Amino acid sequence: MAPPLLEARELCKRFGARRRLLALPARARGAGVLAVDHLSLALSPGESLALVGESGCGKSTTARLLLGLLAPSAGAVRFDGRPLSALDRAERLAFRRSVQIVFQDPYASLNPRRSIGSAIAEPLALHGICPTRAQRRARVEELLSSVGLAADLYDRLPDELSGGQRRRVGIARALALSPQLLIADEPTVGLDLSVQAQVLSLLAQQSAQRGLGLLVISHDLAAVSHLCERVAVMEHGRIVEEGPLAQVFAAPRHPCTAALLAADPAQLSATLPEAAS
Ligand SMILES: Nc1ncnc2c1ncn2[C@@H]1O[C@H](COP(=O)(O)OP(=O)(O)O)[C@@H](O)[C@H]1O
Ligand SMILES: [Mg+2]
Repeated sequence: MAPPLLEARELCKRFGARRRLLALPARARGAGVLAVDHLSLALSPGESLALVGESGCGKSTTARLLLGLLAPSAGAVRFDGRPLSALDRAERLAFRRSVQIVFQDPYASLNPRRSIGSAIAEPLALHGICPTRAQRRARVEELLSSVGLAADLYDRLPDELSGGQRRRVGIARALALSPQLLIADEPTVGLDLSVQAQVLSLLAQQSAQRGLGLLVISHDLAAVSHLCERVAVMEHGRIVEEGPLAQVFAAPRHPCTAALLAADPAQLSATLPEAAS
C-alpha cells in the first residue's frame, strides 16, 4: 500500500527552558509547555481532514511541525513515507512544493510594502516555475482570477485590500506551486459571516477542481463541517477523538468534542441537520 502523503508519528513539541533562562536552576526554569503531546495523524492524497479544538490546544503548533517550520521535540513527520529530517535536497524541494499553508493571519504573512502580485509570484520565482517576468505575471493573474480576485489587484499593497481579499491572496499564494496538500489555519477567523462562507466555498471548489488534499484547522466546527470528510479533535496537545466528520459530530464520544459542539449549537444545526435531530 502507498504510504500516506503526510504523516505525523508520536509528534511532541515542548516550548520553554529558553536559553537565557538556563542560568536558573532547572526547577525555576520549569518544564515549559507541552504544546503537542504524542500526536499521530495521516493524510492520504486528496483527503480532507479537519483538526479542531479550543484555542491554545496546539493546532497551529501542529501545523508548523507538519510543514517542517518547527523541529519536533520527539517523534517525526513523514512525507511520502520518508522522515522530513532524512529528505535530500531534491526531496525537500518536492515537499516544499507539495505541502502549502494558508496562515491564520494573512496580514502578518504579507509584506506591507510588497505588491499583491509580487507576493503571489515569489514562490514561482523561488522554485523557478515561471522563469520570465511575463510568464509569472500571466500565472499570477490566472491565480488571482481562480480565487475570485480581479487582475488589477496585482499592483496593490496588502493594506489596500479587505480582510476577505487578503485571505484570498493567501490562498492564491499557497496554490501557486500546485500543491497536493493545503493546510488552512483558521481560514475564517476575523471575517464577516458572509465572507467566511465565500472563503470556505473557495477552498471546497479548489480542493474539488485540483484534487487537492485539505487539512483545515479551526476552533469553529461549523466552518469545517462542509469542507472535510474526517475530523480529529484536539485537547491539550493530543488527539482525543477521530473519525468520519458526520459520525463524530452526530455522536461525539469524547467530552471535549461534545463541549465544542455545544459551544455553537445554532450554527451546527444549520449546517448539519442530521446531527441535530
Ligand atoms: N513559540 C512559542 N513559544 C512558547 N510557547 C508557545 C509558542 N507557540 C505556541 N506556544 C504555546 O503552545 C500552546 C499551543 O499553542 P497553539 O499551537 O498556537 O494553539 P492553537 O493554535 O490551538 O490556538 C499554547 O499554550 C501556546 O501558548
Ligand atoms: Mg492557532
